[in-house]
Amino acid sequence: MNSSNAQLIDRFGRKVTYVRMSITDRCDFRCVYCMDEEMTFMPRQQLLTLEEIVFLLRAFCELGVEKVRITGGEPLIRRNVDWLFEQIGQLKQSTALTELTITTNGSQLTKYADALVAAGVDRVNISLDSLNEERFLALTRTGDLKTVLSGIVAAKDAGFKKIKLNAVIMKGRNDDEIVDLAQFAIDHELDISYIEEMPLGHVTHQRDESFFSSDEVLAELQTKFDLQPSIANTGGPSRYYQVGGTQSKIGFISPHSHNFCESCNRVRVTTEGRLLLCLGQENSVDLREIIRNYPGDIERLKQAIIDSMEIKPEGHDFNIHEQPVIFRHMSVTGG
Ligand code: GTP
Ligand code: 5AD
Ligand code: SF4
Repeated sequence: MNSSNAQLIDRFGRKVTYVRMSITDRCDFRCVYCMDEEMTFMPRQQLLTLEEIVFLLRAFCELGVEKVRITGGEPLIRRNVDWLFEQIGQLKQSTALTELTITTNGSQLTKYADALVAAGVDRVNISLDSLNEERFLALTRTGDLKTVLSGIVAAKDAGFKKIKLNAVIMKGRNDDEIVDLAQFAIDHELDISYIEEMPLGHVTHQRDESFFSSDEVLAELQTKFDLQPSIANTGGPSRYYQVGGTQSKIGFISPHSHNFCESCNRVRVTTEGRLLLCLGQENSVDLREIIRNYPGDIERLKQAIIDSMEIKPEGHDFNIHEQPVIFRHMSVTGG
């Protein structure tokens, strides 16, 4: 049931129906493409509280947002995250929200998968960049592959409507596992997306040296699998192919080689309540200030969100040869 028919529409006529909300910039992993070796995290009082997050998402969903994705950092390391999901799940009863999703590194899924499904989480995206334990540790700097694989099994058992794996492919680091990762997804009846690395924040390597294009990934996969272009669209930027004779779809998220800004339907909210109108630009609105200065005033908050549509940029201009272009890390933005 929609509590409001209002719509969020930007200057380019794009409807915003999807919010990606980062609930913590912290993570138990330190993936090389995402974080620097040494990271400074946000002081806790700067973070939105769980109550503020629910309030904010209510405002968005009353404005016609149908899909919410909870991201991080690693969302499942935030304390009382199960309570948060229960509250957001309840918004489905009173607002436009129809799809609640999460992006996770999988390290906590054995603990939380059942609770997430019970709270109404429909789909889960799990990062998996390698099937080799040593390499997984090298890429994540701290991650344990076995724990994540158990998390994937727990997610399957819990009964999410869809599980998608995410693999960021980096030249010389995991580009020899492209086929193995697809085969793993197929064997487990999961979907998988291959992601081009994006230049967000300073990391220890040169981004242009590790860049590996989606076209190269696709070419390699086509030598092994029958890939049929699919019209499937999750409301995200992936271009999908159905793998013939299997349950799996393979997606490509290619911000460099196939820009998808013209169909952008989303905005992001950072851990501190900054509404970001584009992943690759700095245009933003401080929603935390409004929530804290006018507690409970949802109409004022909604008006600020409506007004923000005026500053949604036409698109990003990522350039992997000049780094860093955007100084915030993916863990602050929420992907
Ligand atoms: P769904 O399509 O909703 O299933 O999810 P998704 O694949 O978009 O989300 P996920 O959180 O799994 O993110 C996968 C990758 O897509 C991450 O690297 C995100 O940063 C990237 N991504 C998601 N949305 C955008 C976008 O608007 N622009 C760019 N450049 N990258 C995006
Ligand atoms: N470029 C591309 N993808 C990234 N991710 C994190 N940092 C980057 C980056 N710099 C991916 C993670 C996760 C998703 C949320 O974003 O692997 O799957
Ligand atoms: Fe953590 Fe995800 Fe960043 Fe890896 S990519 S460090 S799992 S937030």
